[in-house]
Amino acid sequence: MKNLSNTEKRGSFGSKFGVIAAAAGSAVGLGNIWKFPYIAGQNGGGAFLLVYLVLLIAIGAPIMISEFMIGRETRKNPVGAFKILAPTSSWKWVGIMGVIASVFILAFYSTVAGWTLEYIRLAVTNQFLNLDSESLRLLFQNFTASPTLPIFWQILFLFLTCIIVMAGIEKGIERYAKYLMPILFILIIMLCIRSLTLPNAAKGLSFLFNPDFSKIDSNVILRALGQVFFSLSLGMGTLITYGSYIQNKVKLPEIAIKVSLTDSLVAILAGIAIFPAVFAFGFAPTEGTGLVFVVLPQVFNSMPMGQIFAIFFFLLLAVAAITSSISLLEVIVAYLIEEYNLKRKLATIISISISLFLGLICTMSFAPNSVFMIGGVNFFDVLDYLTSNIMLPLGGLCIVVFVGWRLNKSVILRQLEVNPDKSIPVWVKGLLFIIRYIAPLAILSVFLNSLGVF
Ligand code: PFF
Repeated sequence: MKNLSNTEKRGSFGSKFGVIAAAAGSAVGLGNIWKFPYIAGQNGGGAFLLVYLVLLIAIGAPIMISEFMIGRETRKNPVGAFKILAPTSSWKWVGIMGVIASVFILAFYSTVAGWTLEYIRLAVTNQFLNLDSESLRLLFQNFTASPTLPIFWQILFLFLTCIIVMAGIEKGIERYAKYLMPILFILIIMLCIRSLTLPNAAKGLSFLFNPDFSKIDSNVILRALGQVFFSLSLGMGTLITYGSYIQNKVKLPEIAIKVSLTDSLVAILAGIAIFPAVFAFGFAPTEGTGLVFVVLPQVFNSMPMGQIFAIFFFLLLAVAAITSSISLLEVIVAYLIEEYNLKRKLATIISISISLFLGLICTMSFAPNSVFMIGGVNFFDVLDYLTSNIMLPLGGLCIVVFVGWRLNKSVILRQLEVNPDKSIPVWVKGLLFIIRYIAPLAILSVFLNSLGVF
């Protein structure tokens, strides 16, 4: 395959497991453990999960493959990739929108990641002990409302992310992701076991797995679409960037399927860990942003050696957040290095500084009477809504349209390792059909539906 020397110069993932771990590391994060339960809780539980899974299969995995193809074919950052594949066209703006979305997401993501660091401290100093549901809620509210401590943790989190990205691709991302992902998985399973043995656990399971179809409306569908994009890190070039580091011998559809499955499994497990506890301790599933932070300490309180579990859980959550934020930062850094010829160190510092600036505004927008509100909604929620539900699906739409209708078919076949002189296998035809028709139409209809056109 072409561009091999280029690959070697840029560095690449050393093994197939490394690619999966890094891509899954990007996908699995706060989106699965913090965001999925709270969005599912607010949008009908089982009904939301059903729509989410349908969209994940119909749209998520094919877009992931498309992004990998663009990245590996060009060995470039998202902007550079579109410039190579469609020179002198406007397609590079899809990449630029992705870089902007990365900055926005990293901003509010680091706020929540900072919360997890504080919760590690609270767990280590055993401060959940004997607190009832109301006190735990107050603890969370008071902490997020007074921005000094959240800001401290946010800065620390971004600093850690920065150090890892500065170390470069193979030494940094892959090395960390490889060891940390499996630990995360085991811990969540242990939490699920505890939650499932709580009184009333069946109620929580039924909330998560029993869809009430009357709950499905345009807002639920848009939220589920946004969650697919956010959770799989799609639509903004993260996976174009990661694709650019994947070696030629690796099979892209296999990676995409494994990463999508792992990601949804972790989200569902997080749901199993949380919803039974929600009902057992008298919380509401619609608790909102603080759901994980107020419900889980109750679970820890109810288990033997709960403090140890709490420490490990919040550590794990911070780790999951770091492997995702690394991938967000890498999009911005790769863009600055390749398009402006900056050194990695400088590019990292610039990217972090811009994200931190917006991130501080997100964190401060939780203070009561904060000035950082737009139309009655805090800045944090504005950035979250804008990126997940608008920018990422729009980016994804452009990416599938590009791969389906603009990209040379020989490129697609080469990336899928199909010999163009032989007949095209059925699975490739199916995949192309989804990329050309199903995925774009599905995204468009969700958009139009939520605008009230249908
Ligand atoms: N997928 C990550 C999560 O679920 O936490 C968040 C994320 C990372 C979104 C990277 C987008 C991205 F490019």
